[in-house]
Amino acid sequence: MTLRTQVGIIGAGPAGLFLAHLLHQAGIESIILESRSRQDVEQTLRAGVLEHWVVQLMHDLGIGERVAREAHFHDGITLQWNRQRHHVDITGLTGGKRITVYPQHEVLKDLIAGRLGQGGQILFGARCLAINGIDSDRPSIDFDMDGADTIACDYVVAADGFHGLGRQAIPAAARTEYQKIYPFGWLGILTRAPLSWHELIYANQQDGFALLSTRTPDVQRMYIQCDPADDIAAWSDERIWGQLHDRLDVDDGWQLREGPIFQKGIVSLRSFVCDPMQYGRLFIAGDAAHIVPPTGAKGLNLAVADVLVLARALEASYRRNDGSLLDRYTATCLRRVWKAERFSWYMTTMLHNNEHETAFERRIHFADLDLVRTLEPQARALAENYVGLPFDEA
Ligand code: FAD
Ligand code: DHB
Repeated sequence: MTLRTQVGIIGAGPAGLFLAHLLHQAGIESIILESRSRQDVEQTLRAGVLEHWVVQLMHDLGIGERVAREAHFHDGITLQWNRQRHHVDITGLTGGKRITVYPQHEVLKDLIAGRLGQGGQILFGARCLAINGIDSDRPSIDFDMDGADTIACDYVVAADGFHGLGRQAIPAAARTEYQKIYPFGWLGILTRAPLSWHELIYANQQDGFALLSTRTPDVQRMYIQCDPADDIAAWSDERIWGQLHDRLDVDDGWQLREGPIFQKGIVSLRSFVCDPMQYGRLFIAGDAAHIVPPTGAKGLNLAVADVLVLARALEASYRRNDGSLLDRYTATCLRRVWKAERFSWYMTTMLHNNEHETAFERRIHFADLDLVRTLEPQARALAENYVGLPFDEA
């Protein structure tokens, strides 16, 4: 069977789903192909922090009701090193912008319910097998959903994550890939425990990085730096709490509040950029095009930034027959992407203990942290990057 739409989208992650909403708002049709089930998509644990403009966008799209009610809104973050804490007043330093802690799978639930409510098509259990004709006017996507099917469309958007096939459809000779692999990973846990601190703590103490985050008043999210090759079975609950105490404890009587750990997993950290992010009638967006280490909380936000640029460009092409914004898609996105890459690399190197670095370099990272404490422009730069840089398409 051949389906027909204007924009064929591969992947129902943040990039694909936000794009479908934005296109709908502009009167452009799309179909999303997603290889996993709806339940799997809505239960996978990933990012936690939304930039201020992403929350605004959710409101503009009519899916902001739950985030307004259920998210945690913070005015700052805490940096910690040498058993000392320093509050970075993000809201004060950025003229009133707040940090929103609202997990990615909740964003996805809101996006999916909203899109299906509009009568939009999301085909779950539909694995994209091949992208055809991207250098012609009639591209198509072959997919398998209990049998072979095809979508004929005007444009293909591969929002299919880092391991998807979209990026590979750009001929290897036409793309340059930039990559950095870090020698550490993150062990993340969910614990049924009360809140220990009123905002996120990013710590570099003793054996390295720890992050204290939250989900609900009774469920907390925490991460510690680990070896990316570690077997999760080697991390008993006792060992995890021991490391969290080493990295988060201070000397003023504060107590990390423990509880049963009911989820744990390890992710590796990498930085990656693909240039260009387009080829003919194919556009790649989000993790398909770039990866950041999670320390700056940028991955999800950057995926949404790409598709905002893309939706505006597709609208200009359909409505005004103006293809210039589409031609500039890569250049426009990569300006923001490289700044997010820089910020994520800066936060990651400053806050982790890298066994391949010298004691000299470790001291430099502590000096970087102390500059944020003592020099307002340094703190402001961190705050502006963390909460989300202004959007400019110039
Ligand atoms: P994805 O969310 O990866 O969505 C791509 C979708 O495409 C998936 O649903 C996939 O099933 C589908 N797909 C792939 N191939 C096909 C195919 N052939 N056919 C059909 N569908 C296909 N960021 C943070 O800021 N903080 C974090 O703590 C954090 N933790 C993370 C943990 C993990 C394990 C991972 C992988 C990422 C994490 N990130 C984190 C990054 C953040 O979650 C991503 O940047 C974000 O999900 C990117 O959205 P996306 O839509 O581009 O891609
Ligand atoms: C969370 C994840 C991050 O990568 C981050 O920088 C902050 C918070 C979280 O999962 O809550």
